[in-house]
Formats: sequence, C-alpha cells, structure tokens
Amino acid sequence: MKNILIVGGAGYIGSHAVVNLQESGYNCIVLDNLSEGYRDAVKCDHFVQGDINDTNVLNYVFQSYDISTVMHFSAYINVGESVVDPQKYYKNNVQSTLNLLSAMVDNKVKNFIFSSTCAIFGNPQYLPLDEDHPQAPINPYGMSKFMVEKILEDYSKAYNLKYVALRYFNAAGAHPTVRIGENHRIETHLIPLVLKTLTGERKDIKIFGTDYDTPDGTCVRDYIHVCDLAEAHKNAIELLDAGNESYQINLGTGVGHSVKEIIAACEEVTGMRVPVVNAPRRAGDPASLVATSGGLAKRLLNFNPKFIDIRETIRTAWDWERNKEY
Ligand code: UFG
Repeated sequence: MKNILIVGGAGYIGSHAVVNLQESGYNCIVLDNLSEGYRDAVKCDHFVQGDINDTNVLNYVFQSYDISTVMHFSAYINVGESVVDPQKYYKNNVQSTLNLLSAMVDNKVKNFIFSSTCAIFGNPQYLPLDEDHPQAPINPYGMSKFMVEKILEDYSKAYNLKYVALRYFNAAGAHPTVRIGENHRIETHLIPLVLKTLTGERKDIKIFGTDYDTPDGTCVRDYIHVCDLAEAHKNAIELLDAGNESYQINLGTGVGHSVKEIIAACEEVTGMRVPVVNAPRRAGDPASLVATSGGLAKRLLNFNPKFIDIRETIRTAWDWERNKEY
C-alpha cells in the first residue's frame, strides 16, 4: 500500500482528497497545523499536527513513513487579503513550500502534487483558458502560486523531482456521503455566502459588479465540484508513477456560470428566496474565468467531472451548510 503525505489534509480540498485516496486503497498521512483546517475533517488514522516550516517535523514524517507522493494543499487563498498583506502570502505560500520541497529533496521523496490556481492567468486574453494561455497574475495570491510553479520547473530539472501542478478553477460543493465540506474561518466564496443568507447566518449577498462585459453583467466562473478535484489528484499520482515527466494542468468543467445564475440555482435547489444587494466591483476580479473542457486534464488524467449540473454541486453544499459537523 502506498503512503501519501497530504499537507493541509484538514482543509477543504485536502480533506476530500484524503477520503478519495483512502477509498482507492492508498494510506494517507495528514500533516496540518490546524491554522485554517479542522481536526474533525481528517478522515484517516495518521494525523500529525505540525507546520511545514518546521524541518524537524518534516524529517520526522519522511523518516517515519515511506512516502511515495506529497500533496500540498496548505495555502492562504483570500485574493483581497493578499493585496493588503502580500508578505503573509509570500511567506506562507512560497517560503513554506520551499521548506517542504527542501525536506523532500533531502529525504529523496520524488513525487509532488501542487494546488495551483487559474488565478495565475490574470485577466484572460482569450477564453476558454487552456494551459498555453500567457500567465500574468494580477494579485499576490496568484503570483505566489505562479512563483511556486516556476520553482517547480527548476527543481524538477535539477533535483529529479516530478510534479503535477493542478490549476483549479472555482472549487465548490461538499462530499455527498462523508460529513466534510467547506468551512473557511473567514468565508469569501460565493456559493457558501449565498447559502448562509438562507440559514440566517448572513443578511444578504452582495453582487460585486453588474456592469461586466458578460451576458448578464455579472462575473462568470467555472465551478468544479471538490470531489471531482479529489479524483483528479488521485489520477495525478498514477500519472507520476507511470512516467518521468512533470505537468501543469488546468482543472475546470468547461462550463461557466454568472453570479446571478449561481444565485438563481441556489434559489431553485433550496426553494427559498436569496436577499440580493447590488454592490460595486471587487478589486482584482476578471470578468470571466472558464477552463477548456477535454484538454490536458482529460487526456492525461482521464478527467471526467461527475458533477456537471451546477444544481447538483449546490445541493451537496446546501446539505453540508445545514448539517455542518465542524
Ligand atoms: N462574488 C460576489 N459576492 C460575494 C462573493 C463573490 O459577487 O459575496 C463574486 C465574485 O466577485 C466573483 C464570483 O462571485 O465574481 C466568485 O467569487 P469567489 O470569491 O467565490 O471566487 P473567485 O472567483 O474569486 O476565486 C478566485 C480564483 C480561484 C482561487 C480563489 C481563491 O478564481 O482560482 O480565488 O479564493 F482559488
């Protein structure tokens, strides 16, 4: 049985990856400092509470378990905050990752799966976004992920490290059967915020900009179910195990939905009316971000998202939002 180290396995996407990997027969070891994640989200037996800045902890994990692949989910993800406090982002998302990579090199662990983002593209020059689209991040969050991608290019050549950088579009939804889901300590994402207006946790949802160059004037995003993302990670392990190359792969559904469409879909799923307020644009938001479908993800990862109807994705998020366990 292969041992996979999941850094950030107590967080939103990492916890779903753990469940998927265990179901597929991998042995998961979660390393998380619990600054953003939750102990209750870790659905495997091996949990180490620790920080990837702590080389002793990393050496302990690498020397205790014969790790075949490292997955790295721990990062700060709030775009707006990254503009106000870039240091926090470069320290956590770049410097800490360097420390993790150094420990991997020292302990001769070769395979790395990295959580990257479509935010590395900045304002799209064309849509849908394929892997060859020019990369020009417009905020420190996107830049921090871009920098790690570049570091990985160099490390893979110099240190024989193999990696897959998976560039997520908008992760959404929750596990349909295991009680894990999205619960950021400071929530900024559209779908959970809309649903919180329906549980009474928030008064209303602000639509950030209604004058974009999109069909209904609101921003368009590609919402991909977190379980489909998790499946892609498992397939990325197999891709690395099978060959000697590294890859950068976009992960979206290929379908875009506007903010207004998401709100309408939430109303349809819940049968409730969402209180909406029109607000100014949010700084740093591109009008549309949509992935190509059937690109590298399909070819290399056999990626076939199961959640295509956005209402199904929202239904899982709604189930979770009403019955959260942490
Ligand atoms: N939005 C609103 N009102 C809100 C929250 C969001 O109108 O209260 C709009 C945003 O302006 C945006 C869309 O809903 O147009 C989606 O916003 P999210 O905050 O849910 O997600 P982002 O599109 O900002 O996601 C981006 C990148 C991801 C990255 C993520 C990190 O696209 O790759 O930020 O949080 F991972």
